[in-house]
Amino acid sequence: MAEFTLPKNSKIQPGRKFPATGAKRTRTFKVYRWNPDDGRNPSTDSYEVDLDKCGPMVLDALIKIKNEIDPTLTFRRSCREGICGSCAMNIDGTNTLACTKAIEDCGKGSGDVPIYPLPHMPVVKDLVPDLTHFYAQYASIKPWIRTQSPAPTRERLQSPGDRKQLDGLYECILCACCSTSCPSYWWNGERYLGPAILLQAYRWIVDSRDEDTGARLDDLEDPFKLYRCHTIMNCARTCPKGLNPAKAIAEIKKLMLARRV
Ligand code: SF4
Ligand code: SF4
Ligand code: FES
Repeated sequence: MAEFTLPKNSKIQPGRKFPATGAKRTRTFKVYRWNPDDGRNPSTDSYEVDLDKCGPMVLDALIKIKNEIDPTLTFRRSCREGICGSCAMNIDGTNTLACTKAIEDCGKGSGDVPIYPLPHMPVVKDLVPDLTHFYAQYASIKPWIRTQSPAPTRERLQSPGDRKQLDGLYECILCACCSTSCPSYWWNGERYLGPAILLQAYRWIVDSRDEDTGARLDDLEDPFKLYRCHTIMNCARTCPKGLNPAKAIAEIKKLMLARRV
């Protein structure tokens, strides 16, 4: 399990309690609350939710809380299908997607469910982390096909084997669950690219249609950008899409070595 660490700007106090009066089957969600505009310290508010009137996923509970109990609760979500990555947060001690995390899988089916923003990121409000730096790092790897040869008159084709090289990479939804569970990224996030961005970098390095592999590797040849991965493996354990960023990082390191000999 990915280890949980408090978000940066935190001195958390017990907050308000919202009981579900008259409900027979309930679960309490202890949700991190922080609003930069009200001057108060962060707190955890407790929302008791009637499970007989709620969908099965943690995101269903958050939406119910926002719609029916406390409209001030702030979180991101869009697709509700594990595709957009926007509902990534720390649920029950693990970074994951609220829309694909079943309530009954939290805490072995009973007990309170703690929910915090992704760890070690600045918080915008409540469960919303500031991903500005993460996205800037993504842009820095130039995540598009780079070519020097003349533009073809039709699409650039791949063999089935070449296409297969992208399996385990193209599925990444850039949710940042892996990077924010990585101790090296916590400590060196300003300069270490972290597992999500390195997995994406490898996705373009191995794309048979890309013609800039050498320049891509040159860009990563840096003591901080790539070499801060110490194979702790939190990234692979926490990825809600079942991907293995540590493996992608190891493959980049192998390519670095191979071009030196
Ligand atoms: S590798 Fe997995 S955890 Fe990391 S950003 Fe991609 S989908 Fe999210
Ligand atoms: S394997 Fe590397 S990238 Fe993954 S959590 Fe560990 S240090 Fe971070
Ligand atoms: S809402 Fe899109 S991944 Fe959860």
